[in-house]
Amino acid sequence: MSTFKAPKGTYDLLPPDSATYLAVREAIAAPLRGSGYGYIETPGFESVELFARGVGESTDIVTKEMYAFETKGGDRLALRPEGTASVLRAALEANLHKAGNLPVKLWYSGSYYRYERPQKGRYRHFSQVGAEAIGAEDPALDAELIILADQAYRSLGLLNFRILLNSLGDKECRPVYREALQTFLRGLDLDEDTLRRAEINPLRVLDDKRESVQKQLGDAPLLRDYLCDACKAYHEEVRELVTAAGVVFEDDPKLVRGLDYYTRTTFEFVHDGLGSQSAVGGGGRYDGLSEMIGGPALPSVGWALGVDRTVLALEAEGVELELPATTSVFAVPLGDEARRVLFAKVTEMRKNGVAADFAYGGKGLKAAMKAANRSGARYALILGERDIEQGVVQLKDLESGEQTAVGMNEIVAELKSRLG
Ligand code: HAM
Repeated sequence: MSTFKAPKGTYDLLPPDSATYLAVREAIAAPLRGSGYGYIETPGFESVELFARGVGESTDIVTKEMYAFETKGGDRLALRPEGTASVLRAALEANLHKAGNLPVKLWYSGSYYRYERPQKGRYRHFSQVGAEAIGAEDPALDAELIILADQAYRSLGLLNFRILLNSLGDKECRPVYREALQTFLRGLDLDEDTLRRAEINPLRVLDDKRESVQKQLGDAPLLRDYLCDACKAYHEEVRELVTAAGVVFEDDPKLVRGLDYYTRTTFEFVHDGLGSQSAVGGGGRYDGLSEMIGGPALPSVGWALGVDRTVLALEAEGVELELPATTSVFAVPLGDEARRVLFAKVTEMRKNGVAADFAYGGKGLKAAMKAANRSGARYALILGERDIEQGVVQLKDLESGEQTAVGMNEIVAELKSRLG
């Protein structure tokens, strides 16, 4: 052990478990790749102002959880707490929306940072795979994203997740609702902090986890009853398209999200085996975000799925992903001459697409064979002095134990054909 430990609220991904994380990222990305989403990568930090304006000045994410700092050059930056604002910023900066092909569909995968109180499923450094479809107002696009997330979870073998769906209205109807909710909240017995929140961001109060607050919210007006006709029709169409795709969801009129940019469609994926940090993913429409960060009107929709919590969900359901061994062949040289010859063979195998590893460190036969077994490789290649003289190498099938001598010049082709 060294003097240092991973910082509070973080953990390291180590083999063999790290393979599951890679597979989860891949499983979430696969349906996106197959649906016209192009890969985007943005910096790990951005101007603080982008998140303040985008995510919302009064959200917990911006007021409490952001890793904000000033650079030596005097720039105010923050480690990204989420991906949507950055992706939209990048798309606008590169004028992707002007290329005449809307929506611009993008997917991403990376690290995000929030200074939260750590607990199981809630970390200060975590990982998301996300998707954003920028520049189109079309209920089929909202439906597509919900369906693709469902497909991703199902492809991993997850069953005990639920999709919660709501509409948050638009700039026509939400202000009316906001007023009504505020009037209602002012009449409750709430502490000062909560009353202040009711003035700044009344919808967030609906999400208050305390029972003393929830108890009083039973008769709170619901946004559902305030939606304008356009929002109602839009939401109905999203619901119909998702239903027609055979994807089951629950209407949740109290669903509010922790980010301020949402309009109309909002959804969350929750897993019932995760305890209090049950949201494995979330997203929705953000028709006003582009204008909020100085761009043109670009109605958009997206989601981000949490990789850490998806892995926890797999554990909770006892799902073990079938992860093929990464190494197919493990080479075991016996002696110096054999080491040179076999090392060259390993290099040749790798160039020919055969995943191979090597017994380094001058191990004896016993230790080297142990390493071969541990590697998960199907075959061991053993080379001794006598083999070199005879121009062969010993090919051992580690599953059946069967061993045969194969000509040195034939071995790569033989392995390729055996491994299919
Ligand atoms: P979010 O709901 O804040 O949305 O985060 C999405 C997912 O990231 C969560 O459901 C959760 O699985 C994971 N996550 C968030 N915070 C943590 C944490 N501290 N530890 C572990 N996992 C965490 C967004 O970030 C939006 N940008 C989603 C979006 C994309 N909306 C539109 N487009």
